[in-house]
This record gives sequence, C-alpha cells and structure tokens, in this order.
Amino acid sequence: MVDKITIENLSLQYSDGTESLRGVTMGIRQNAVTVLFGPAGGGKSTLLRCLNRLNDLTEIKSSTGRILIDGENILDPKTDVIALRRKVGMVFARPVPLPMSIRANITYALELAGEKRRSKLDEAVERSLKLAAIWEEVKDRLNDPAVALSGGQQQRICLARVIALQPQIILLDEPTSGLDPISTGKVEAALLELKKEYTVILVPHSIQQAARTADHAAFFLTGELIEYAEGRQMFTTPKQKKTEDYIMGRFG
Ligand SMILES: Nc1ncnc2c1ncn2[C@@H]1O[C@H](COP(=O)(O)OP(=O)(O)OP(=O)(O)O)[C@@H](O)[C@H]1O
Ligand SMILES: [Mg+2]
Repeated sequence: MVDKITIENLSLQYSDGTESLRGVTMGIRQNAVTVLFGPAGGGKSTLLRCLNRLNDLTEIKSSTGRILIDGENILDPKTDVIALRRKVGMVFARPVPLPMSIRANITYALELAGEKRRSKLDEAVERSLKLAAIWEEVKDRLNDPAVALSGGQQQRICLARVIALQPQIILLDEPTSGLDPISTGKVEAALLELKKEYTVILVPHSIQQAARTADHAAFFLTGELIEYAEGRQMFTTPKQKKTEDYIMGRFG
C-alpha cells in the first residue's frame, strides 16, 4: 500500500496564538478511508484545511512542517493552489447545493472548465451520482432543483459535485452531522465505493461512525496526534490510555 500523503512535523498557530497542530507526522494511504477523530478543538478541521490550503483564507501566525502529496510539498508558496484544490476536494458538514437543477450542480464546474460536449457531461453526471450513491433516487428528475431534496440527498449531491471534478483526494468534515441514520448509512456506503478510486479522509461525527468506516484512524487531542493505527485495532485495543478513555466515553 502506498502513502498518498505524507505529513511531516506539521505545526500551526492561528493569529490569536492558539496552537492548533503540534508536530503532527503521519502518512495517509491511497485507496483507504483515514479517519481523524477526537474531542472538539483537537485540530481535525485545521488539518483537513491544511490539506487543500483552505487555511490560506484564515489568519495564521505561523505554520511549519511539510505536507507532501505525491512527493510535492503543497505548503510551498509556489504551489498552484487552484490546481491543488481540484486534486483535493472537500465536503463540509452542511450541504450547500447550488440553487440550480440537480444536473447543473454536477455540470456547472465542468462547463466552467470548458467542457461543452453533452455526452461527456451526461457521463460525468451519471458516474458522479452513482459513486455518491444517489443516482437511483434522482435519475428521473435531474432537472428538478437540488435545494428541493432532503438534507441527506443534498449532501450526496455535494459529494457528487466534488467527485465530478475528478479529484484524487476527498476530504469530508463531519459530512453526516445533520443527517438521519438512513442518509448517514448511504453516505457511509458511498465512502466504501469511493475509496476504491480515491484517497478518503473523514472527520466522523461520532466514534461509532469512526469505527464503522476507518481503515486507519488517527486520534487527535489538543493539536497532537496521540495514536495512529489500523481502524479495527484502534477501536478494539487502543494502545494509549488517553485514546482508550476517549473511545470508552470517559471524556468528550
Ligand atoms: N480560524 C480560527 N482562528 C483561531 N483559532 C481557530 C480557528 N479555527 C480553529 N481554531 C482553534 O484551533 C483549535 C483547533 O480547532 P479545529 O476546528 O481544528 O478543531 P476540531 O478538532 O475540528 O474540533 P471540532 O470537533 O469542534 O470540529 C481550537 O482551539 C480552535 O478554537
Ligand atoms: Mg472540526
């Protein structure tokens, strides 16, 4: 198995002095779901945002270390951030579909990027919606507005929108936090499909979800990577006392 991403000694301090990541070093596997979990404020979202340089938009005092994707340090100032964000797609907690049809939600960015061929666009729509596990539910009403769908469906539309851009890495920050258990199950099923083609990094909304989805799991506490292990091992026999206490619900 290959590491798609190598994080080396990554530290980050926001401008108010908050030290959100401290010397994080880890490799992230290709074709696997890697879960980042731990209590609030641990740095999980901060780390995700580093991976596609969304933190560029936030006030940061200092950041040190390296993040290599396919061997290239994406924190280098010379990095083409637009290209990086195409390669590293992100799905957020609250689904925000574009105020357009279901179909246009998928084709919009592709058309902006210059794709005009109807057949290519149709192909992308079907492929992305299938991978996001929503095709069957919407295939007969692709021209309906996406905002009229349920929250769970909207979230899968947002996932499909990311997939349509053919990223290599997909980041998901608590993508099911607002969803009912059935929609949550569908998103989790989509992740299983996605990892066959992509590198998936998920911040789960619960320990149960972490345990269900993780091939590899990383436990973060106040900016530090406390433990990193294969998913099954992490959630049955964690090595660190702090990890065990957290998994057992002894602190939140
Ligand atoms: N834009 C920001 N400016 C200043 N401090 C921030 C900013 N974003 C996050 N922080 C701080 O950085 C630390 C890590 O936050 P982060 O959002 O990465 O944690 P998290 O693990 O994702 O937490 P949660 O589970 O609540 O989503 C926290 O102390 C938080 O207050
Ligand atoms: Mg977060």
